[in-house]
Amino acid sequence: MDLARNKQNISHAVMSQRAEARDSLDNFPTPPWATRALLEHVIERGGYASHLTCLEPACGAGHMSKVLKEYFKDVRSADAFDYGYGHVEDFLSVKYSKGSWDWVITNPPFRLAEDFILEALPVARRGVAMLVRTVFIESVGRYERIFSQIPPTSVAQFVERVPMVKGRLDSKASTATGYAWIVWDKNYESSFTQMKWIPPCRKRLEKDGDYHEPLSSSYETSLDEETPTKADLLL
Ligand SMILES: C[S@@+](CC[C@H](N)C(=O)[O-])C[C@H]1O[C@@H](n2cnc3c(N)ncnc32)[C@H](O)[C@@H]1O
Repeated sequence: MDLARNKQNISHAVMSQRAEARDSLDNFPTPPWATRALLEHVIERGGYASHLTCLEPACGAGHMSKVLKEYFKDVRSADAFDYGYGHVEDFLSVKYSKGSWDWVITNPPFRLAEDFILEALPVARRGVAMLVRTVFIESVGRYERIFSQIPPTSVAQFVERVPMVKGRLDSKASTATGYAWIVWDKNYESSFTQMKWIPPCRKRLEKDGDYHEPLSSSYETSLDEETPTKADLLL
């Protein structure tokens, strides 16, 4: 490994503006505690998910799916790329029946997040929850195409940072990027979006073994932070 180059990457990790290739799969695994935060602080609180089903349509190596299985009765996992976990399918091409899963929950690839939301809404009987960078709720285009048409029931902003790095989990990573869960809960449909804050919970929701995973050589790995480019923000 080129140590000098690696050190430089580390020092730039926090503030760098990463220009992902247009065809990048955007493989940024979600730290398990951030998925637990959804079920503990935002939706189906109090164990209500235990009789419900869930689709994770961009599961990557399963870091979010494994946590969803802690809460839901049944979880289907799939991804367009074969990471050795779940089914291999392109969520935007495969057609799930209307209302076939109670919840559709994922951390979608940033550039396809809007398409994922529109694809997921009819598939979900109960609701859709997407983990997105907070900047996703900006942009005139997204306002016109999504937020003004189908306002989410809630936007739950993490008050702690949720560090994500490309291709792997890293308990020591830091980030300058804010994240939020955006939720469309069909039981509480309204024209108003509720703003929530997810209280500090990382310490409480992290479990032994969350970060102890063997690295597959097939993953793209780097210290890049998941940061949108200017073009992404203005879409
Ligand atoms: C930000 S990662 C999230 C992975 C996983 N959901 C997690 O939270 O750990 C986005 C994932 O979307 C997958 N992906 C990209 N385009 C896709 C598509 N059209 N259909 C299904 N999965 C896709 C990528 O391969 C990648 O695993």
